[in-house]
Amino acid sequence: MAHHWTQNDISDMSGKLAVVTGGSGGLGLATATGLAGAGAEVVLAGRDPERLRIAAERIHDRHPGAPVRGERLDLASLASVADFAGRLADQGRPLDLLVNNAAVLYIPRRTLTEDGFELTMATNHLGHFALTGRLVPLLLRAPAPRVVTVCSLTAKVPALDLADLMSERNYRPLTAYAKSKMAVLLFALELQRRATRALTSVAVNPGSASTGLYRHSPAPVRGLGHRLDRLLGRSTQDAASVILYGATSSDVVPGGFYAASGLLGRRGTPRPAPLPKAARDHALARDLWLKSEALTGVRPSFPARSLTV
Ligand SMILES: NC(=O)c1ccc[n+]([C@@H]2O[C@H](COP(=O)([O-])OP(=O)(O)OC[C@H]3O[C@@H](n4cnc5c(N)ncnc54)[C@H](OP(=O)(O)O)[C@@H]3O)[C@@H](O)[C@H]2O)c1
Repeated sequence: MAHHWTQNDISDMSGKLAVVTGGSGGLGLATATGLAGAGAEVVLAGRDPERLRIAAERIHDRHPGAPVRGERLDLASLASVADFAGRLADQGRPLDLLVNNAAVLYIPRRTLTEDGFELTMATNHLGHFALTGRLVPLLLRAPAPRVVTVCSLTAKVPALDLADLMSERNYRPLTAYAKSKMAVLLFALELQRRATRALTSVAVNPGSASTGLYRHSPAPVRGLGHRLDRLLGRSTQDAASVILYGATSSDVVPGGFYAASGLLGRRGTPRPAPLPKAARDHALARDLWLKSEALTGVRPSFPARSLTV
């Protein structure tokens, strides 16, 4: 049962390979630490080799000898995503768990990536879409593969306008973040519909935690964010429990959405959470998937028997 689940309940992950994007800090590092403690081999994926090295060192301090390593991945670059997936494919290990966790919040001015995408949507959604698609062959070689996608409370806010995915019309930093988080939620649900029994895809909302997420925000927004998080939130380790629950619990259902049980999904133990209305729109999810395929050039494919769409 989801009630009273804590990190002490993590099932044995020995022999399993996990990739955690944004594993260099915040909730990603806390998630990776939990997975390593349960025996998983963990790849921390992030942009900065030094931050990755320090993160791996911190995990080794807690879990000496744990098979944890950093690998360079810039989700805002389709070439970097392809490189990362290629290196993992060369290593040839089946991938048991992919945690799509990394994100940027509050890019003050609309910024384009080298691929011509708005940076928030590129990092939070399109990079993860391309990464997941490229890793599908490795995932399908694992006995019970799982993809966990980290969403946010703000996924409740906007209706996603696919005609303005890149926020060309009226760029607002927080709206761009909220749009990207709705996109990743729609992606996680559509992934399950497309993969059917070939893998398990779950979405999680970890709730508030005072991490580095506000680092790009202007000082007043950063201060307000941290104050709100301190008031409503809990420790990074507690917030990571929701991600770890989605990643390891045998109680999760394919296509499920999980959040903390308390006020506004910001505190408490993990439990199934109601989907925001816009996330129940299957046509929107399908159209976003097709648009993401066209933009990234990555077309995730699943065994024909697993397709029902
Ligand atoms: N903290 C909260 O209150 C809260 C609430 C709801 C949801 N969430 C969600 O939780 C997840 C983790 O956030 P957090 O709070 O842990 O934030 P964080 O401390 O800022 O961590 C974000 C991670 O994403 C990585 N990242 C950023 N851009 C990247 C890129 N282009 N390529 C690869 N990695 C990149 C960062 O790594 P480098 O900078 O080292 O590359 C960092 O490790 C996010 O999906 C966020 O939306 C957080």
